[in-house]
Amino acid sequence: MLIRRRNGHDISSSEITPEGVYHDRRRFLQTASSLALGSLILPWEDVLAAPEKYAYADLPGVKPNPAYQDKDLKKLITKPEDFSSYNNFYEFGMDKEDPKANSRNFKTKPWTIKVHGLVSKPAEYQLEDFLKPFELEDRIYRFRCVEAWSMVVPWVGIPLHRILSRAQPTSGAKYVLFKTLMDPAQFPAQKSKILDWPYQEGLRLDEAMHDLTLLTVGAYGKVLPNQNGAPLRLIVPWKYGYKSIKSIVSIELVSAQPKTSWEIRAPDEYPFYSNVNPEVPHPRWSQKTERVLGTGFFSAKQKTLMFNGYTDAVASLYSKFDNRKLY
Ligand code: MTE
Repeated sequence: MLIRRRNGHDISSSEITPEGVYHDRRRFLQTASSLALGSLILPWEDVLAAPEKYAYADLPGVKPNPAYQDKDLKKLITKPEDFSSYNNFYEFGMDKEDPKANSRNFKTKPWTIKVHGLVSKPAEYQLEDFLKPFELEDRIYRFRCVEAWSMVVPWVGIPLHRILSRAQPTSGAKYVLFKTLMDPAQFPAQKSKILDWPYQEGLRLDEAMHDLTLLTVGAYGKVLPNQNGAPLRLIVPWKYGYKSIKSIVSIELVSAQPKTSWEIRAPDEYPFYSNVNPEVPHPRWSQKTERVLGTGFFSAKQKTLMFNGYTDAVASLYSKFDNRKLY
């Protein structure tokens, strides 16, 4: 995301973060080179219990969901090394290389996750217990960042509606508010004022309950790299990427539309809905096309699709609304 300064220039990351440290690319390349999914190599609980030991380890028992294994999309899957080395995770710094360079020692165990607010069964879980009842699915999704780059990723996760149904939202619950961990000792940029910390995001309840909305723990059949939002990260594929909040510790059901971190920072540029609409330009750039990650800066851009290609699945959520306003 680009932040506009009062004098009209974008803030340079060097003002916020130190020079990046050496990137440990090779380890990920070695372990993530295979796209084979579902291999039963390690017990799932062991992986979660010692993520530093098994970083990028294969996740056991992952089942490809046939509804999300489009053959044409499969051919376009982004290389894992591109997926994990060009990131937005402002808690680790503002440059695309910062999250990878600065997240190597990020602790994802123990990890506590709270589901609370307007639910009949509020609970706080250790991540292992939170996930235990559910089967992990592999789903290939398009992903489109508001900054006009895109990728195709085989995520591993659980549809959010399963998690929410377990908590039993009450009749007053209309929205879901998500929060990232607040820990300035681990997230150096949380000491700065670039965003209202902790990073928070929201969805309308029907968006959150949509089958496409995925709570992820992995990608490419492996545990999520820290820079991509380990250990628990939301994916909402028909919206611009900033809705896909990383390193989640709180899922709260609320009655009113919550403010999101980016909306507080720049409401005209990053509004609540964030639906992909190529016809509505961002105030500072067009949204008609996107650069495909890994294809090189000078390669031809690709046309952006309405709802990022998920119109058939999600347009009905917005039939009563003007989609030029819910961009
Ligand atoms: N989540 C947190 N906590 N902090 C962030 O800065 N950036 C968002 C989103 N989730 C962000 C976040 C933005 S702007 C994008 S485009 C995606 O993460 C980038 O995801 P990726 O790095 O896995 O490609």
